[in-house]
Parts: sequence; structure tokens; C-alpha cells
Amino acid sequence: MKLTTLYAPDVLAARVRELAKSIRASHPGGRLVVVVVLRGAFVFAADLVRALWPLDLVVDFVALASYEGTETTGRVQLVTDLREDVAGAHVLVVEDICDTGLTLSFLVESLRARGPASVRTCVMLDKPSRRKVAFRTDFTGFTIPDRFVVGYGLDLDGAYRNLPEIAEVHTET
Ligand code: XMP
Ligand code: MG
Repeated sequence: MKLTTLYAPDVLAARVRELAKSIRASHPGGRLVVVVVLRGAFVFAADLVRALWPLDLVVDFVALASYEGTETTGRVQLVTDLREDVAGAHVLVVEDICDTGLTLSFLVESLRARGPASVRTCVMLDKPSRRKVAFRTDFTGFTIPDRFVVGYGLDLDGAYRNLPEIAEVHTET
């Protein structure tokens, strides 16, 4: 297996600062709850919330599990729910990557049912060519083709989450 760098640490840091700037500029004011999707988004979210400073916000976490069955739609389940009440609040969901769109569409729907003022999503990576359900992210770090990537929170069987860059995985045959 070989890794090639797609986004070096300084490139990621610069993009996070730009994303934070857009998020700050478009925040309408009022209570902001940042919802981090475990586990993959923890590295990105740690950088993003600090780049959002001094914006006033609270951070909470959800864990989701997806089951790839024979059906094309797949199924997503909330494994660990929020502790915060998001009714009336502006919610910013932070996720590592949007792939089929199943995870984020499920989560956004579940959050919308709780009466928030708004729900927006911020992903470091987007693979729009892989969508199984129509889903558009509000803030996107980078749009990538259908390649498997690791690092910056993204894993391969649990490994590489602490790799400081985002790299493409090449499997030799
Ligand atoms: P959806 O529901 O959009 O799920 O298909 C997104 C989740 O799929 C995982 N994923 C990846 N993980 N490298 C990874 O390490 C990848 O290239 C990749 N593509 C998708 C990831 O867990 C994400 O949360
Ligand atoms: Mg994930």
C-alpha cells in the first residue's frame, strides 16, 4: 500500500482559515451549536472551532453508524446523541467527508426535527460523484474525485487518523 499527499498540513490550515471566515461572515447571530460527527471529524473540528474564535459557540458530538445492506440506500443510525438542546439554535454540523450523502442527510433531517433556527453543514472533503441521495453541503474544504483518502481524522480500519496531511491510498495489485 502506498500513500501520496493530496493536501499538506499548511494547505489544510489555510483552507480551514478560509472556511472559518465564511462561516463567521454568514452567521446570523444567536446561539450557535457546532455538532461534530465522531469519529472522523474530530481533527478538522478541533482546528475549525479554534479558527472560529472569538465567535461564541458550544461544541457537541454525535456518533453515527451506517449499515451497507443489499439495498442501494443503506441505513444510518444515531449511536450517540447530542447532549445540547438545539431548539431555536443555529446548528453547524462538522463532518470529515461527504460521500454517498446518507450520513449527512440522515443527521440533518434528525436535527431539523428538533426545531433549530437553522442547520448548515461544513465538510473538509466532498466526493459528489458518489452520491446515493441528493445532498449539498454548505461549506466545503475541497471537492475530490472518487478516491479513498486517509489522514486528518480519516481512517483506514482505524489507522492514519493522526496523519497530519490528507493522502490518497493506492493499493498495489
Ligand atoms: P456517507 O454517508 O456520505 O458517509 O457515504 C461518509 C462517511 O464515509 C466514510 N468515507 C471515507 N473514509 N476515506 C475514509 O477514511 C474515504 O475516502 C472515505 N469516503 C467515505 C467516512 O467515514 C465518512 O464519514
Ligand atoms: Mg466518518
